[in-house]
Parts: sequence; C-alpha cells; structure tokens
Amino acid sequence: MYLKLVLEFIAASAFIIVVEGYIESSRIKEDVADVVVNLPKCEPQENDANEIQVTCQGIVALGDVLGYLKEEQRSRVTVITTLKSDFRDLSLDRLTHFTSLHTLIFNQSRISTWNLPKLRNVPKIKVVILDDCWNTYNLLSPVRNASLHFTPRMFDGIPALEELYLVNCYVSNMTAESFRNFTSLKTLSISKGGIGCEPQMEWVLDWMAEGRVIVDNDTICFVPKNLKEGGGVLVMSMFYSFSGHPFLLIMGHRKETKKHCPKVCTCVVQGFNYKRNGQSRNDPIINIDCINAGLTELPEVPPHSTRLNFVNNSITDISPLFVNKVYRNVTSVRLDNNRISHVDGDLFAEFLKDRPHDLFISLTNNNLTTLPVKQILRFYKDDEGTGISKRFKPHIGLGSNPWNCSNCAFLPEFQELVYFQYYKWENSRLFDDIRCATGGDSQNGPMIITLDMQSMCAPDPPLLEAIDILNLVLGILMIFFLANFIYNIYQYKKHSKLPWIVTKTPCC
Ligand SMILES: *[C@@H]1O[C@H](CO)[C@@H](O)[C@H](O)[C@H]1NC(C)=O
Ligand SMILES: *[C@@H]1O[C@H](CO)[C@@H](O)[C@H](O)[C@H]1NC(C)=O
Ligand SMILES: *[C@@H]1O[C@H](CO)[C@@H](O)[C@H](O)[C@H]1NC(C)=O
Ligand SMILES: *[C@@H]1O[C@H](CO)[C@@H](O)[C@H](O)[C@H]1NC(C)=O
Ligand SMILES: *[C@@H]1O[C@H](CO)[C@@H](O)[C@H](O)[C@H]1NC(C)=O
Ligand SMILES: *[C@@H]1O[C@H](CO)[C@@H](O)[C@H](O)[C@H]1NC(C)=O
Ligand SMILES: *[C@@H]1O[C@H](CO)[C@@H](O)[C@H](O)[C@H]1NC(C)=O
Ligand SMILES: *[C@@H]1O[C@H](CO)[C@@H](O)[C@H](O)[C@H]1NC(C)=O
Ligand SMILES: *[C@@H]1O[C@H](CO)[C@@H](O)[C@H](O)[C@H]1NC(C)=O
Repeated sequence: MYLKLVLEFIAASAFIIVVEGYIESSRIKEDVADVVVNLPKCEPQENDANEIQVTCQGIVALGDVLGYLKEEQRSRVTVITTLKSDFRDLSLDRLTHFTSLHTLIFNQSRISTWNLPKLRNVPKIKVVILDDCWNTYNLLSPVRNASLHFTPRMFDGIPALEELYLVNCYVSNMTAESFRNFTSLKTLSISKGGIGCEPQMEWVLDWMAEGRVIVDNDTICFVPKNLKEGGGVLVMSMFYSFSGHPFLLIMGHRKETKKHCPKVCTCVVQGFNYKRNGQSRNDPIINIDCINAGLTELPEVPPHSTRLNFVNNSITDISPLFVNKVYRNVTSVRLDNNRISHVDGDLFAEFLKDRPHDLFISLTNNNLTTLPVKQILRFYKDDEGTGISKRFKPHIGLGSNPWNCSNCAFLPEFQELVYFQYYKWENSRLFDDIRCATGGDSQNGPMIITLDMQSMCAPDPPLLEAIDILNLVLGILMIFFLANFIYNIYQYKKHSKLPWIVTKTPCC
C-alpha cells in the first residue's frame, strides 16, 4: 500500500518535472533575447595543423574554457567560440595560458565591455566576431529589443584587435570615439542587423571611403530609445521613420544633402515616406529651410529635396523651380514674403504634368497681379483627352497679392481657381486675404470670391444681333406695305380704279 503511494508520488513528481522542463525550454525558445540558461559545456576540436578550436555553450567567463582542456592543449588553442553565453565581465587576463589564441567568436550571447588587461602576457587577439550579440535592451521593436550599445572604451581591453565583425547585431551609439584608440584595427565589418541612425553616424561613410569600414547593403537603420530621456521617448519621428531602411541608403542621402546644402540654408533628411498600408517607399523626405536668408533668386538645392521653405526673401523669378531638375521631387515650397510678380504658365504646367504626387506652393504676400489661370485650371477640371493626371492637383497659396480686378481676361477663371482651393482644402480662411488690389494696396480690396462676375465682366453686346436684323427687316417690310397701301389709295382716288395688280388678284 505505502509502496504504491510512494511510487505514485514519484511518478507524479517526474511528470511535473518533465512538464516544467518543457515549459522552461519553450520559454527560452520564445525569448531569444533573454539570457540563456544552458548547462555550460565546451568541446575542443583539433584540426590537421594540430591547432585546437574550442566551442563553448552557456559559459559566463572566458576563463571557464580552461576547465575543459588538458594542460598540454591550452597553448594550441587558436579560436574560442561561445554560443548562448552570458558575459557580465570580459577580460583577456584569464586567457594568458592560450598563447596561440587569435580569434574570439561570440554567438547569440550577451557581452559586456572589455576590461583593460592587467597582465602583460595576454594573448594577442586579432579577430573578434560578434554574431547576434547584445549588451542592453533599447530597441523599439516588438520582435526584438536587445541591442549592442557602444560606450567610448568598449574595446580598449583588446588592444591588438585588427578585425572586428558585427554580424546581425543591432548597434547603437557607435561613435568614432569607440575606435579612437584602436590604432591596430584594420577592418570593421558590419553585416545584416542594424545601426541606430543618429546623425553623428556620418563618420562611418568617411571610414568606408578610406576602406576601414565595410557595411552591407542589408544592414538597416533602426530607432533606438532615447536613453537620456528616460527610455520611452523616440529619437526620431515614427511617421517619417528611417526604421527598416538600408543604413547605407540613408547615410548616402545625408551625406549628399549636407554636401549640396546652400550655405544660408539648413538641410535635414527627415526620414522616408511612411505609408499606412505598410508599404514603404524609397523616397526620402528632405527639408530645406532658407528663411530670412537674403536670397534674390532660388538657390540650387540638394538632389531629392522635398520640402522647401524660402519665406522672407527677395526672390523675383520662380521659373527655375519648374525647369531645374533638382526641384523634381519637391512636394511643398513656401515662397511667402518674396517679390514674385510673374508665373510662367507653360513652365508651370509642364512642371505639374506627370508628377507622381501633389504640390503645395505658397505664393502668399508677393507681387502678383495675374496668374496663367487657363493652364492651371486644367489640372482641376475633368478635361478628358488632355492626358493630365486627375489625382494630383496643386494647392496654391494666393493671399495678400495685388490681384488685378480690372482684367476680365483673367478674373472669372481666377475666381474659379480660388474656389478650387476651397473645395480641395476646405479652409475658408484662405479666402480672406485673396483680394483685389485697390490703389496698390493688396489688403483692402474686395475679396475675390465675393465678386459678381456677371456684372463685373459681362461681355459687351455685339453691334447687330439676329433679333435686331429681323426687326429691321420687318420694319422695312412694314414701311413697304404702308407705302403700297397709300399708293393704292392714291391711285384709286385719282383714276377711280385700283392698280392692275389688285384687279388681277383672283379673290375679289
Ligand atoms: C526587453 O527584453 C527583455 C528580455 O526579454 C525583457 O525583460 C524586457 O522587459 C524587454 N523590454 C522592453 C522594453 O520590451
Ligand atoms: C552562430 O550560430 C548560428 C547557428 O546557431 C550559425 O548559423 C552561425 O554561423 C554562427 N555564427 C558564427 C559567426 O559562427
Ligand atoms: C555615446 O557615445 C559617446 C561617445 O562615445 C559617449 O560620450 C556617450 O556617453 C554615449 N552615450 C551613451 C548614452 O552611452
Ligand atoms: C585612449 O587611450 C588613452 C591612454 O590609454 C586614454 O587616456 C584615453 O582616454 C583613451 N581615449 C579613449 C577615447 O578611449
Ligand atoms: C550595395 O549597393 C550599391 C549601390 O546600390 C552597389 O553598388 C553594391 O554593389 C551593393 N553591394 C552589395 C554587396 O550588394
Ligand atoms: C519675416 O519677416 C518679418 C518682418 O521682417 C517678421 O516679422 C517675420 O517673423 C519673418 N518671418 C519668418 C518666418 O521669419
Ligand atoms: C525624384 O526624382 C527622380 C529623378 O530626379 C525620379 O526618378 C523620382 O521618381 C522622383 N521621385 C518622386 C517621388 O518624385
Ligand atoms: C511689383 O510689380 C510691379 C510691376 O508689376 C513693379 O513695378 C513693382 O516695383 C513691384 N514691386 C515690388 C515690391 O517688387
Ligand atoms: C490690369 O489689367 C488691365 C486690363 O488687362 C490692364 O490694362 C492694367 O494695366 C492692369 N493693371 C495692372 C496693375 O497690371
């Protein structure tokens, strides 16, 4: 009886242990980034050249390797690979026995900053490979939050390092500072994984040009949490995020934008177009700000510039905007408070045609009396057969210009254009400032939308209309009949006889 109970108890316990073990192992599988609790073990492997490569799992210090090797083997070890390990402390001091050791490979492991070696006879580690390694959790990603955050003296503890490979790691705060003391380092290679796209990362491109850094095309940018601001704050706007886009592409845009930025402007690559359907496009958003810059003409902007701000300058000619290729990707341009008095209709229409997106152009507070309304209106009207895209229409800021209300070749269609601005953007405040010039003052005339075109621009009547001609003919006929009648009366009185035409008429 007792024996049965004991046996049952043992069976139940075994079952619980097995289930717990299963739960434990599946938990580990789910959470790759978590610290892995494998039983530590190391396996030395000898190759033909009599060298030994050790592969370890689940160790917590490099010195742990010692326990798995015979004393005579130690000096023949050239490579140590650790898998799923958790290093709180890294130092070469405990590797002094490995006199031939030159390569350390860390795989799916948490690593830490290397401590400066205190001993003199540490091995000369020439190659370090970090594959899927991390030291912190500062990524904004539902899939993975583990990342490799660089600190200034991170690798000082491996003084002879020549090649550093970061494979599939998500690297943040990787400043040039971390490598400043690395005179021995010949190659820094980054493949897969990602790099935090902080603006200060431009040094990577410079070092690439010098051949000291290699970055793969498939290494992406990611958005790290801003550590300084308490962890939850985004470093970059998510709407125009860099996240998930190739690092090299973004840094290339940054470099190009910086190189071509006019001196009086500030130029910023904001990110990439974010699309709600999950698709991301490779169109960067690049803002060019040249406010109060004393410009008298449109400056050359960096390629792919999308939003231009030229508010408060003295620009008179905007034709370059329509002609010059560097403006091809512009989606918005603010030209408020300039001296524009002319817009070329053909060039503007040519510019609007075939654009893959809308255009916002603000001409508020300029010196415009008229616009090429005929050409512009075609972009709002359903005009079949013109081949003009109906999806993309310009939104034009028209306020505070001295519009010429005595020009009836312009005014009715201009009013229509003003209406279209309303229907598309439903902002009636836009109308308040779109007024007729009165005596050179663009602020106090009547609002364009309130004008009665019927009376203001009624066409002059033509000299003779059809009805007038008919009236004339009828009048002449009447006079003829009257004359005929009077003549008949006269004939009758004089000869007492009707004229022959009356007598011949068969009726009477
Ligand atoms: C990041 O991952 C670790 C380990 O899985 C987890 O403990 C932590 O809560 C995660 N942090 C965030 C902010 O997701
Ligand atoms: C790391 O481990 C994975 C599989 O566990 C393997 O495919 C990969 O090659 C390893 N990386 C290195 C650098 O050895
Ligand atoms: C980032 O790196 C710089 C220079 O290496 C260092 O001064 C700074 O403290 C680091 N920032 C963080 C949050 O670790
Ligand atoms: C470089 O090394 C020198 C001397 O070891 C040290 O004083 C200095 O702080 C180091 N610089 C960095 C950026 O680690
Ligand atoms: C990366 O992209 C550049 C430019 O698009 C190309 O020239 C280069 O061959 C690519 N490199 C790889 C490894 O795909
Ligand atoms: C433009 O200049 C005016 C007057 O000089 C100033 O009041 C206004 O703030 C300026 N606008 C911008 C955007 O700088
Ligand atoms: C940007 O301009 C290039 C040519 O300069 C063109 O190929 C590309 O389609 C444009 N992109 C957009 C979004 O307009
Ligand atoms: C505005 O344009 C007129 C000609 O249309 C010109 O005479 C005048 O000087 C211009 N005013 C400014 C401030 O540029
Ligand atoms: C306004 O238009 C009329 C008619 O076209 C023209 O005679 C007049 O010169 C224009 N006024 C200005 C200030 O452009």
